[in-house]
Amino acid sequence: MAKETILVLGANGQIGTELVEYLRFEYGNVNVIASDIKAPQEVHGPFEQMDVLDVNRLTELVKDHKVTQIYHLAAMLSATAEQKIMLGWELNMTGLINVLNIAVECKVKKVFWPSSIAVFGPSTPKLNTPQYCYTDPSTLYGVSKLAGEHWCNYYFNKFGLDVRSIRYPGLIGYKSVPGGGTTDYAVYIFHEALARGSYDCFLEADTMLPMMYMEDAIRGTVELMEAPAEKIKVRTSYNIAGMSFTPGELAIEIRKTMPEFKITYHPDIRQTYADSWPKSIDDSVARKDWGWNPHFNTSKLVGEMMTHCKDLV
Ligand SMILES: NC(=O)c1ccc[n+]([C@@H]2O[C@H](COP(=O)([O-])OP(=O)(O)OC[C@H]3O[C@@H](n4cnc5c(N)ncnc54)[C@H](O)[C@@H]3O)[C@@H](O)[C@H]2O)c1
Repeated sequence: MAKETILVLGANGQIGTELVEYLRFEYGNVNVIASDIKAPQEVHGPFEQMDVLDVNRLTELVKDHKVTQIYHLAAMLSATAEQKIMLGWELNMTGLINVLNIAVECKVKKVFWPSSIAVFGPSTPKLNTPQYCYTDPSTLYGVSKLAGEHWCNYYFNKFGLDVRSIRYPGLIGYKSVPGGGTTDYAVYIFHEALARGSYDCFLEADTMLPMMYMEDAIRGTVELMEAPAEKIKVRTSYNIAGMSFTPGELAIEIRKTMPEFKITYHPDIRQTYADSWPKSIDDSVARKDWGWNPHFNTSKLVGEMMTHCKDLV
């Protein structure tokens, strides 16, 4: 395997924390540089504190370390971006464009940038949402993700940049806390169940959304990046699916190991974002092109979360 130097931007977030650990195990600690605007809680390898909007520092970092791959995760998530729309647009768009330009200038071999199911909107088919369909995002976050998908596709076509992307569903993991998204309830529910025996949910009981266990998302991301370039036919972003459930169904699953668990529902503004998103995703194109295959269903996910979150309480 050719030597790779991998830069992860937004490395201290919910996904970055787990992705860096996975990449360091696979590629070696010193070959994976973590970077974030915030200082990390613990340092396990090379770390650079940096703002992705600082083009000069980012260019210097990529040149000095002869970076061959960038995973660009720094972004403002749906609920937060709705409160700070111009800052959300600036970080989500200018941050991505900086990374794409620097990747072309410095001849970075591959770039990964995550999109989201938030690109879909009220006119999108809700069940088994296809890879190609009408996209009319209703959040600023979704607008920035849809525009970002097309920037990625444009840089692939115009400059030959090998940029790859996945439309993540809601991601559920126990190693870090979520960063202000609409699907965050599906992480907090486990922590609250174990700490208090109850959870007050900000979505209605019957709000079905596509979700995925973090281990599947990280493995899928790295598999996409390691797939031969000729297999990657979609240069906007791939649909991938894990499972779909409602808060009510998740509560029933939790009660199988914790019968006394209680859930209440007080929907807030995030209900309107969730209502515009798909209930389930058709990921047949990703399966066919680069062999995507999830390993976790809802009951396996609940088992893992209850076991691991117990250790944190
Ligand atoms: N977590 C999910 O369920 C989910 C679902 C769909 C898509 N995504 C996408 O995946 C990516 C990562 O998501 P996440 O959940 O890990 O987010 P997060 O909010 O947990 O982490 C983002 C990280 O970026 C850092 N950051 C913010 N501004 C920065 C800046 N100017 N410069 C450098 N770093 C900065 C933050 O400090 C944070 O550590 C985002 O693009 C997000 O839109 C996440």
